Amino acid sequence: EKGTYPHYMLKEIDEQPAVIRKIIQTYQNEQGELTIDGDIIDAVNKADRIYIIAAGTSYHAGLVGKQFIEKMAKVPVEVHISSEFGYNMPLLSEKPLFIFISQSGETADSRAVLVQVKEMGYPALTITNVPGSTLSREADFTLLLHAGPEIAVASTKAYTAQIAVLSILAEVTAKTKGLEFGFDLIHELGLVANAMDVLCDSKEIIEIMAREFLSVTRNCFFIGRGIDFYVGLEGALKLKEISYIQAEGFAGGELKHGTIALIEEGTPVIALATQENVNLSIRGNVKEVVARGANPCIISMKGLNTDEDSFVIPEVYELLTPLISVVPLQLLAYYASLHRGCDVDKPRNLAKSVTVE
Ligand code: F6R
Repeated sequence: EKGTYPHYMLKEIDEQPAVIRKIIQTYQNEQGELTIDGDIIDAVNKADRIYIIAAGTSYHAGLVGKQFIEKMAKVPVEVHISSEFGYNMPLLSEKPLFIFISQSGETADSRAVLVQVKEMGYPALTITNVPGSTLSREADFTLLLHAGPEIAVASTKAYTAQIAVLSILAEVTAKTKGLEFGFDLIHELGLVANAMDVLCDSKEIIEIMAREFLSVTRNCFFIGRGIDFYVGLEGALKLKEISYIQAEGFAGGELKHGTIALIEEGTPVIALATQENVNLSIRGNVKEVVARGANPCIISMKGLNTDEDSFVIPEVYELLTPLISVVPLQLLAYYASLHRGCDVDKPRNLAKSVTVE
């Protein structure tokens, strides 16, 4: 039930802090440590490479998850779009582990790959929001998102839940390997949930931003570097699917290799600046597009912000920024859709679970 909310999407955006807290709680043992079924951790530790397979928003969560697993647990990860992987399989490593990320657990493109890799005899783990879903039943292992039902077609809380669960998988794996990765994940995820609360209370500002940048435009670009690039991909997908604005996410450095030709007077360019190591470069990219007439909207993290920024998100641990930088992008898409009179929860041509290949 959406209760007093005008749309499920807005309710589900607001549920994100609670979902993160629920995940921390559910994945904690009595000693207050994060824990994951030993068989799953064994499977991860036996693998020489992990292949993440997913579609749409879940694919974008996989791109962020790769960062955790590689940086914290030191296992190489490839992330693939399920519909491509099915007929264009890369040369596999000797001992692959497949991780399927799927909110619904029913996505046919992902299931087709699962069937293939099971036939090849490889182990598979499904990360899903739906216990007993097809992808959960057919894989060897399941990790649940505990996000509660997601009704709006545009995925929001499942994305942040997927990222949180992937961070926990990376943390527990790293610990069993005796690896030091330098931060307390439970504590940092708690701070993320608090930061999400702050963002959910900033709706008025974001509604104004949506009006300013998105109420009349035909197109919109998202730029970022590193994990900000991946969050930009997600921001663009959210915007296009519910507001029908043509939106694309780009790596900041790729602009000059083609995309900058599309910048005209007034083109909105949403830039993410949450990573210290690329802060100067992404701001350089903003200058390049502004010089061609773009209307820049910089979303930065506290500590890296400047006076020209449109919105500043609270500071969280640098690997975890996607969990909060995505929230203003979800809200921008929501208000853009609303202002443009679109059907927020049920956009045209889309279904909540895509059960055909
Ligand atoms: C975007 C969206 C879709 C899904 C995709 C995969 O908001 O909802 O891109 O993420 O269809 O669905 P699942 O995760 O159910 O496999």
